[in-house]
Amino acid sequence: MKALVYNGPRDVSVKEVADAKIEHPMDVLVKITTTNICGSDLHMYEGRTNVEAGKVLGHENLGEVVEIGDAVGRVEVGDIVCLPFNISCGFCKNCERGLTGFCLTLNPGTAGAAYGYAGMGPYSGGQAEYLRVPYGDVNCLVLPEDAGEKENDYVMLADIFPTGYESTELAGVKPGETVVVYGAGPVGLMAAYSAFIKGASKVMVVDRLPDRLKLAKKIGAIPIDYSKESPVGQVLELTGGEGADRGCECAGYQAHDAEGNEQPNLTMNQLVRSVKPTGGIGVIGVFVPEDPKASDKLEKKGQIAFDLGLFFSKGLQMGSGQANVKKYNRHLCNLIHEGKAKPSFIVSHELSLKEAPDAYKHFDAREKGWTKVLLKPAA
Ligand SMILES: NC(=O)c1ccc[n+]([C@@H]2O[C@H](COP(=O)([O-])OP(=O)(O)OC[C@H]3O[C@@H](n4cnc5c(N)ncnc54)[C@H](O)[C@@H]3O)[C@@H](O)[C@H]2O)c1
Ligand SMILES: [Zn+2]
Ligand SMILES: [Zn+2]
Repeated sequence: MKALVYNGPRDVSVKEVADAKIEHPMDVLVKITTTNICGSDLHMYEGRTNVEAGKVLGHENLGEVVEIGDAVGRVEVGDIVCLPFNISCGFCKNCERGLTGFCLTLNPGTAGAAYGYAGMGPYSGGQAEYLRVPYGDVNCLVLPEDAGEKENDYVMLADIFPTGYESTELAGVKPGETVVVYGAGPVGLMAAYSAFIKGASKVMVVDRLPDRLKLAKKIGAIPIDYSKESPVGQVLELTGGEGADRGCECAGYQAHDAEGNEQPNLTMNQLVRSVKPTGGIGVIGVFVPEDPKASDKLEKKGQIAFDLGLFFSKGLQMGSGQANVKKYNRHLCNLIHEGKAKPSFIVSHELSLKEAPDAYKHFDAREKGWTKVLLKPAA
């Protein structure tokens, strides 16, 4: 089968690889019809992880079940399914609490497994014609009858919609509250969208890329261009000097300053200053335990200079981690099905698998208009 393979930094190509197949009685084999490129793929693309050459990338996957293992009981051939990016067993002590992003079974020695991702187990990604889904009954979200018509919405359930939603959960967003989101990439836009779904009264979105800020505005958020004005000053002004009730970190360790230089502690410290005393911060942007290629000395060891003193004296709370997609995907799926949510508003490109290497280049450069790329391997 054909798949998008990581060869080395900024070098991916579509190659013929071994066919995905049923390897265990609980596996399901899915023919991929939509698979997205994610901001998280770019950490690998840019050579900032230890992902091995030859890895098939792709963790935001949707498709049709074409074969099931002998022990699969719920999922059937022909079902259209969306797969959470985290692969989980469903029975370990984290999975049973809904913390499927920290499954203890599928990536022994660590907590958390994913398709096509550095450090998340041996699993191949879905930027390919077919994908092997372990523990198929656990990991397949079977989609309703409008799956085809709303495919570009439902595919967002694999990662960024539940991930953005989880950042609002970690921050503790409640109806009527004010929320600031740092980062207007796909994840930040989904965080802002989720904050509105949860009844936020005011949502402010910080970025410096005009096309992304425009999308934030389109869904009713207040765009703040940090290359033109101080985001902290703006948030304070918009909240009567208090700060936002809640803040979401959706940029991660590769956050940039206004000039475009990487500064890994920037958004975290701006959040501490933007959120009101006793408020909450949800950190869903990725931070890594080590980053040898970073220019910042602390960041090389996975550390940042964090304003803990101010964080403490303000009595702030914070949550972080890989999103537990399965905890939210069914409810968010219902919102899409009932016409109450349309996360495809961020889609900028629908391309074939063959066009993926070029798409990586454009998306990595955060070129104007490249907000979210969907690949269609079966088209
Ligand atoms: N925790 C999880 O489960 C999970 C899942 C998916 C993605 N992620 C992570 O979330 C982050 C965002 O993902 P994405 O797909 O939206 O990526 P992206 O790279 O497309 O978006 C990041 C955005 O942050 C903006 N940004 C950079 N520095 C900033 C700053 N100082 N202030 C405000 N905005 C700034 C960039 O301009 C960009 O638009 C990445 O770190 C990604 O790895 C985490
Ligand atoms: Zn993703
Ligand atoms: Zn588990």
